[in-house]
Amino acid sequence: MNSLHREYIERVDRVPVQGLGLSVDVYSPNLLTLLTYLRRRQVLPAYLEVFRAASTALAAVRRQTDTSLTYHGEGLWVTQPGAQRDRLFQQEAREVALQLEILQSAWSNHECATKHIEGYSFGTYLPPLYTPSSAAVVATNIRAVQAVFDRECRLSGGSSPLFLLEMPPLTYFVAGTVSIPEFFRQVTEQAACGLVLDVGHLWTVYRYSTVWQTVSLTTFLSRFLAEFPLERVVEIHVAGLSVHESMIMSPLRSLAEQDQGLPLWTDAHAAPIPPVLFEMLDLILTDVRLRHLKGLALEVDTKPIELIADEFESFISRYGAVFPSKAQGAVCADASRKERDDRAAEIWSEAEEDSVRHAYENYARVVSGQAAPAGTEWTSSVACADGLTLYQSSYLPYEILHWGGEIKAMFPDTCRELATRAVLLDAFVVFWFREPRPVHSSYDFFEIKIDQFLEFVGEVAPEVQAVAQREANELREAYRSANESPLPVASHQP
Ligand SMILES: [Fe+2]
Repeated sequence: MNSLHREYIERVDRVPVQGLGLSVDVYSPNLLTLLTYLRRRQVLPAYLEVFRAASTALAAVRRQTDTSLTYHGEGLWVTQPGAQRDRLFQQEAREVALQLEILQSAWSNHECATKHIEGYSFGTYLPPLYTPSSAAVVATNIRAVQAVFDRECRLSGGSSPLFLLEMPPLTYFVAGTVSIPEFFRQVTEQAACGLVLDVGHLWTVYRYSTVWQTVSLTTFLSRFLAEFPLERVVEIHVAGLSVHESMIMSPLRSLAEQDQGLPLWTDAHAAPIPPVLFEMLDLILTDVRLRHLKGLALEVDTKPIELIADEFESFISRYGAVFPSKAQGAVCADASRKERDDRAAEIWSEAEEDSVRHAYENYARVVSGQAAPAGTEWTSSVACADGLTLYQSSYLPYEILHWGGEIKAMFPDTCRELATRAVLLDAFVVFWFREPRPVHSSYDFFEIKIDQFLEFVGEVAPEVQAVAQREANELREAYRSANESPLPVASHQP
């Protein structure tokens, strides 16, 4: 057993078993309303994994429930090179540490994915480039974040929260040179983190890599699990899948489904959980290497509360025996903290970092349609660019124009003025990805959308900019006051 794996065992042994839980958003649905409803239905979760929110809202949740709380992070782009020296990344890591302490969370889960690549912003997650150097970047960043947790977050028993890395979903394509399970093995060989295995994400890996063409779902699953470091899995997620809004009317959808015989589902937490995911979970749970599993959760943010209760009721009756007793994890002082801080300070050579940075820059340009999918990341046997057209022609424009803020609803007067000048909003999508625009504050897609639309209007119709500026000011004001209330109205999607 190498020293990193020993360190992982030490850390995970201090994480208490959580049992069957729900991964939730504070705002959508309103968490306190949800808990009241679940109490009435007598289907209470043993733990709640709470998505990042304003610290005041998290503190309110901590005060108002005795349920064990864990944390689902956001905005900490561990896939991106150079994070260790990035002031914003360090600030985000400290913010996460603060929120972990507020919740007294035993872990921090974050997707192995990003929404911002070398100046290009996206509304939903992009998976990493599945390459060995990208795995090394992820591991380096995780070690740095864990060091921040060790330094700045103290749980009541004296330990610090464990960093968990979640395998992200695929949205129609995958790029890389190593298989996804091999990538996560490489990360775990270089960092003492735990993992979250999301069963719906795993279904999308089957669907949007090339394997579905040659093997059944069951065969894929057993091969995937044989390669995946299951001994590092601390939590399993199950969430809904559905056809994305941008695809509902798309002629490309029926073509793709006809050719391939499988639905064009993507990760969708609001949607019902298809039975196939529980069949997959049944098989996963038979693997003896899952000895560090501490929690099994349905991810239910944005889902109607009646559906959450129905699904959780069935979940409890099907998986109630997985955690027969909720043994508490022991806590002890962290003697080797200094050594870990030192290891986290190791940095990559600039040449190595530059090469990964260039690979990611090219990745962002390919997925946004500005460059052709060339190079080994797109041509190896594990890559699959088949669905790239779906992503570029429907999913991505929808994200810019409709998701996380409908442009026509955000800027009604400006859009009317643009229409009279025959300026099409499709031009905004082209403008968005025309050049990199770095982000200098905590990542917020809604605010980025406001900023970029103002710039766009300034370029295509400068005489309308005053109207756009007025609407932008109103939007920012309303957004700020909504986010300052203890339980603001907001949305989060995968
Ligand atoms: Fe998940």
